Amino acid sequence: MGEALTIGDVAARSGVATSALRFYEEQGLIHAERTDSGHRRYSRAVIRRVAFIVFAQKVGLSLEEIRGELARLPTNRVPDRADWAKLSRGWDARIQTRIEELERLRDGLSECIGCGCLSLDRCQLANPGDVAARRGAGPRYWIEGSGKGRSGAP
Ligand code: FES
Repeated sequence: MGEALTIGDVAARSGVATSALRFYEEQGLIHAERTDSGHRRYSRAVIRRVAFIVFAQKVGLSLEEIRGELARLPTNRVPDRADWAKLSRGWDARIQTRIEELERLRDGLSECIGCGCLSLDRCQLANPGDVAARRGAGPRYWIEGSGKGRSGAP
């Protein structure tokens, strides 16, 4: 394993809380060996893996999607820069969707936070351009992830 890292080492180097690291391990996203006394020991390569998970979550990938992406990495060697770069290709559309969501949030924030109605009839934050009118009640754009990308809806 080379220089093994403790969970505290990984937390300090990655900026991710130990509780989150344990959660990632429970979800099968990272792996730790155990010492005779049961303490976790990580390879140095886990730092890059944790960074990828954090980026992927910020882009909006679900844990299941992240698991699928990580499964594309080679298992017979330590993944190199090109291997990691392949995984993030195709994220542009998702990032653009997130940008548009945040722009809508910014534009409607002060009025809508004070209002809170999320009316399909008049709220441009919940229903920009009345596009969600036929999808049902509630803030469809927030529930369904803006109707593009995540839900697969048109
Ligand atoms: S929450 Fe009422 S208009 Fe947006």
